Amino acid sequence: MTAQRIDGNAISQELRGQVAQRALALKSKGVTPGLAVVLVGENAASHVYVRNKVKACQDSGFFSLLEKHPDTLSQDALLLRIEALNNDPQIHGILVQLPLPAHIDAQKVIEAIDPAKDVDGFHIASAGALMTGMPGFWPCTPYGCMKMLESIAYDLRGKHAVVIGRSNIVGKPMALMLLQKNATVTICHSATADLKALTLQADVIVAAVGKPNVLTADMVKPGASVIDVGMNRNAQGKLCGDVDFAGVEQVASFITPVPGGVGPMTITMLLVNTLEAAQRCLA
Ligand code: GUN
Repeated sequence: MTAQRIDGNAISQELRGQVAQRALALKSKGVTPGLAVVLVGENAASHVYVRNKVKACQDSGFFSLLEKHPDTLSQDALLLRIEALNNDPQIHGILVQLPLPAHIDAQKVIEAIDPAKDVDGFHIASAGALMTGMPGFWPCTPYGCMKMLESIAYDLRGKHAVVIGRSNIVGKPMALMLLQKNATVTICHSATADLKALTLQADVIVAAVGKPNVLTADMVKPGASVIDVGMNRNAQGKLCGDVDFAGVEQVASFITPVPGGVGPMTITMLLVNTLEAAQRCLA
């Protein structure tokens, strides 16, 4: 069997079309969705990410504000900027690009964002809302993974989902989203005793570790669905995920490629969250 690919670019394109239309409708009511992206320091990858986020906003007809600060910016000065953005009526979503320089406490900065503008879904209030099934913003990457499963009409009820990775940004919220859709969820991590024994029982596997070849064909039950959140460079410098794609696609029924899988979905869900934040202003 060769797995069917879940095309993140195609799903993104469709969702972004819907977002742009909804943005137009909001504009006609006098609200232009606005996202502020705050970048501190010179991390090269972060500069690429924020450029893509701002461009996606422009393409969807949003207002966007990119604030670049030197890595000498103090934590207090950054907190003042967050407060100003919290009070800015043109801004519906605030994203502080991570990582922040070592002298800044990232959690403190995230907690300073108004939860109503926390379109990254990283605030403790957003995490609590997800955990309790209350309305709130979901972190964009696992939210994008859920949309990919939705695109193939995957019914998670009663299925065994194994999440590899336990980060606050992907692994933990991913597990909660799968649970909310009635999957039986196992979270695996670096101290898991026998990863293969668990992944072999899985109907759905989400790999979110940040290391190539975490999941190989011998670890996958025939017919399972595999979502690859990884973004790594292999020895040849080529972009690759956490999954041994060539091997696993021979065993799985559905698989997301890297590139062109989860990656484009993350920014798309940021647009969805920002639009939602703007829409809530009208309600
Ligand atoms: N750094 C890497 N990924 C992300 C993300 O999704 N949001 C933010 N704010 N920073 C990141």
